This record gives sequence, C-alpha cells and structure tokens, in this order.
Amino acid sequence: MPNEFTGKTALVTGASRGIGAAAAIALARAGAGRIVVHYNRFREGAEATLAEVRAAGAQAEALGGDLGEAEGIRSFLSELAAAAPEVDILINNAGSLVQRARLLEGSEDLFDRVMNLNFKSAWAITRAVAPAMMRKRSGIIVNISSIAARNGGGPGASVYAAAKAAVMTITKGWARELAPHGIRVNGVSPGTVDNYFHQQFSNRHILDSVVAQTPAGRLATNEDVADVIVFLCSEAARYVHAQTIEVNGGMLAP
Ligand SMILES: NC(=O)c1ccc[n+]([C@@H]2O[C@H](COP(=O)([O-])OP(=O)(O)OC[C@H]3O[C@@H](n4cnc5c(N)ncnc54)[C@H](OP(=O)(O)O)[C@@H]3O)[C@@H](O)[C@H]2O)c1
Repeated sequence: MPNEFTGKTALVTGASRGIGAAAAIALARAGAGRIVVHYNRFREGAEATLAEVRAAGAQAEALGGDLGEAEGIRSFLSELAAAAPEVDILINNAGSLVQRARLLEGSEDLFDRVMNLNFKSAWAITRAVAPAMMRKRSGIIVNISSIAARNGGGPGASVYAAAKAAVMTITKGWARELAPHGIRVNGVSPGTVDNYFHQQFSNRHILDSVVAQTPAGRLATNEDVADVIVFLCSEAARYVHAQTIEVNGGMLAP
C-alpha cells in the first residue's frame, strides 16, 4: 500500500550500527523507497544495514566519511551530491563522545573533532540537502541530540553535551526558517541507550546506576529511539515542528 514514505529518499548518517542502523531499517520498513546509509569506519555494519533495508524492499547504498574532520565532511558531501542529489528525509544521527576529557585534559583538536562530528557536520549536511527540499517545497529533518544537552553530560563529556545543546537549539532555528518552505525540522533526545556507544564510554556500574534512576526501569534500545524518529518523519507528525522529543524512560533531567 503506498503511503507518505513511498518513493522518498532518506539519508541516515551514522547508520552502520546503533540508533542510525535501527532508524534506516525502520524507515525502509515504513515504506521509504531508498535509504542512503552513511558510515565511518564500520563498513561491515553498513553492509548489514544495507541487507536489512533491502530485505524490507527499499533500495540502499552506503557512503562513507569521517564527519569529525572538515575534509571528511567535504568529501562526503561531494559523494552525496553525485549519488543522491535529492534527499527527502535527513536524519542527522552520526555522533560520538569521541573521548572523555575534563576541561584541563582536552585539546583544541579534540574540541574541534567533537564539535565537527556532533554539530558542524549536521549543519553542513543540512545546508547541502535543503535547496532541493526547498525546490520541492517538501522535506523532513530530524536531528539527534542527547540528554547530555539538558544535564551538561557525564564526566569528561561537557564539549559533547554543548555540541548536543547546539543541535537542540539549531533545530528550533531551522524549524522556524524552513517551515515556510514546506520543510519540517524536529529532534530526538535519547537518554541512555544500551548499545556500542556506552560499550565504549561507560561501564556496567555506570549503566546500572542509570537504570536505578530511570522510572521505566531499563535502558533504551536502538528501536525505542528509531520508532520516534519514524514517527517524526510520518504524516502523523505533520503539524509537529521545532520539537526535540525526549526518549529517556522518564529520566528527569535538571
Ligand atoms: N547511545 C546513547 O546512549 C546516546 C544517548 C544520547 C544521544 N546519542 C546520540 O545518538 C546518535 C547515535 O549514536 P548511537 O548511540 O547509535 O552510537 P553508536 O552505536 O556508537 O553509533 C554511532 C554512529 O556514528 C558514526 N560515527 C562515529 N564517529 C564518526 C565519525 N567520526 N564520522 C562519521 N560517523 C561517525 C558511527 O560510524 P562507524 O561505526 O561506521 O564508525 C556509527 O554509525 C549520536 O549522535 C549520539 O551522540 C546516543
């Protein structure tokens, strides 16, 4: 049955694993016609996402690129322009803490890398896809923020948290600017997701204490977040603009 996703091209950054992979697969299952799967280092993960997207009936292709580096962003955008000049749905999802570093431990290089990956790349990719959306007077953008934007982040994660706060704020600005062009912009702010991100940057003790503070009594799954992303892309959210939906099991952020 055709629906609002039929014939649409979606670009999901950071779709080799985690939330991005789940979102790419969920968008394909919802009926999107073509999914561009961005990845950085985990090519096998991107291949696994492609296989599931194709099994759901969508076309799929992978494009690589290190979005933590200005040159990586530029080369990704030139590949994107050649492969998929018209994107209907953009999910700015790629992100990472990169490295825990307290104020006096971090370097300027680390600061730039965290900001490039978590904030500047979303700005650059959105600028690249917006003109075609404007021409069509139709488009959907979902930016992935974090609970860290609300609480300042865990130990050594303050630059990451600030980047995610910037994402949350620019979501409101873009929503106001782009709504008259027929483009809806929203965000999703996950709490703690039980995935590779925290295998890298947390430990079982930290995660158990998060569960103890979470009213829902468990960590999020990738699919818990992906389902809200798909909702924001759907016709059911047609009058939702400028929101960042918290998906955190009821965890209260100060
Ligand atoms: N996990 C959580 O608890 C949590 C909470 C709040 C917000 N978030 C946000 O949710 C988004 C998805 O994260 P996740 O939880 O799914 O993490 P994940 O499982 O670690 O996946 C991260 C994705 O981002 C990509 N990525 C990482 N560094 C990159 C770089 N330098 N250039 C380009 N792509 C890069 C990875 O690509 P490769 O694997 O191919 O290298 C991967 O596809 C991120 O923006 C993250 O900040 C996560």
